[in-house]
Amino acid sequence: MPFYHSVGDIPRVKHTTFFKKDGKSLYREELFSSKGFSGVYSNKYHYNLPTAVKSVRHLPEMTQDVSWPEAPVLYHHFFTDDLQTPGDFIRSRNLFLYNDHCKIYTAHVNKDTDEFFRNAYGAEYVFIHHGEGEMLSEFGKIRFEPGDQIIVPRAVTYQIKFDDYTANNKLMICESSTAYEIPRNYRNEYGQMTEDAPYAERDFKAPEYLEPSDEAGDFVVILKAGERFFEHIMPHHPFGVVGWDGFLYPFAFNIKSYHPKVGRIHLPPPVHLCFKTGQFILCNFVPRLYDFYPGAIPAPYFHSNIDSDEVLYYVDGDFMSRKGVKNGSITLHPGGMPHGPQPGKTEDSVGKEKTEEYAIMIDTYQPLLPTTNAQKTLDRDYAHSWLE
Ligand SMILES: [Fe+2]
Repeated sequence: MPFYHSVGDIPRVKHTTFFKKDGKSLYREELFSSKGFSGVYSNKYHYNLPTAVKSVRHLPEMTQDVSWPEAPVLYHHFFTDDLQTPGDFIRSRNLFLYNDHCKIYTAHVNKDTDEFFRNAYGAEYVFIHHGEGEMLSEFGKIRFEPGDQIIVPRAVTYQIKFDDYTANNKLMICESSTAYEIPRNYRNEYGQMTEDAPYAERDFKAPEYLEPSDEAGDFVVILKAGERFFEHIMPHHPFGVVGWDGFLYPFAFNIKSYHPKVGRIHLPPPVHLCFKTGQFILCNFVPRLYDFYPGAIPAPYFHSNIDSDEVLYYVDGDFMSRKGVKNGSITLHPGGMPHGPQPGKTEDSVGKEKTEEYAIMIDTYQPLLPTTNAQKTLDRDYAHSWLE
């Protein structure tokens, strides 16, 4: 996606015969493409037909009914660590905020699974808050560590394997109805990252070679289609891909690799932009030096972003403009209301030289609805914490 990548064996010319070792049977080529045939794509070469499905079963028990229709339009703060549903990387997800284009989950993963997962309708941003391991897919393996932000394009079949299931493994997942993209202004006319982009190609982790499997059997793929889930039994191992090349594949970028920009006076959130979708943006707040003009106020001024809801997921450090938040907290500041630092936070920031905060901001163009999971873990004092 950010650049051309190739892994494993591929034929010299695409759409030509590519024989297996027996010299007679063909590998099966699959074009994996976006925006019809006009967007980024990859060509994968499978041992077996990628279309073979033995059976399908609807899994209604996996659909979460967590709507909270009475949720007030107000400032919300909730502690996602207070709700931990034991399970694997598919079933431990708890939905906290959603609209038609953006769904925000956290997951405390304490169980391994042999099942595979494919989000058929959505792209996924998977933030590794805690834990280490490997993300496996038909494109290969990506070794991950805390801070990694894994972009999983729609319809990639994958697994997340943690090294230790007794450890505190935590994910924050943001599902999008449109693709995650590198902002246009970070790329030159040839697609290369510009010199003033907050990252360079070498900061991205692309999939590495994973020994392809030609194994036959009953392989379970859990397919998510909006809020419906299906079990597809495939007769061949889903990672039976001997090679691929192209621009469309999962990759990771660590929040610690983000190069922040600093200014003479307060710079607005667009300077923290990391990824863009068609319906929201995602920013990385990272340790940085503060504004250096005499008397500059590092904390943000009060502001009304009339077209967007603002979500912050707090990762590490002391967030300079918010009181009471903890690592793993989420705050929601809805559009149509002003927001800003709590009493004392503006004054506290004056004269400070730097911040050590790590946080992820998601600004959506359509209002977000909190779920009963947010309601259950709510900080009930937060909405009124601006009363002096
Ligand atoms: Fe804001």
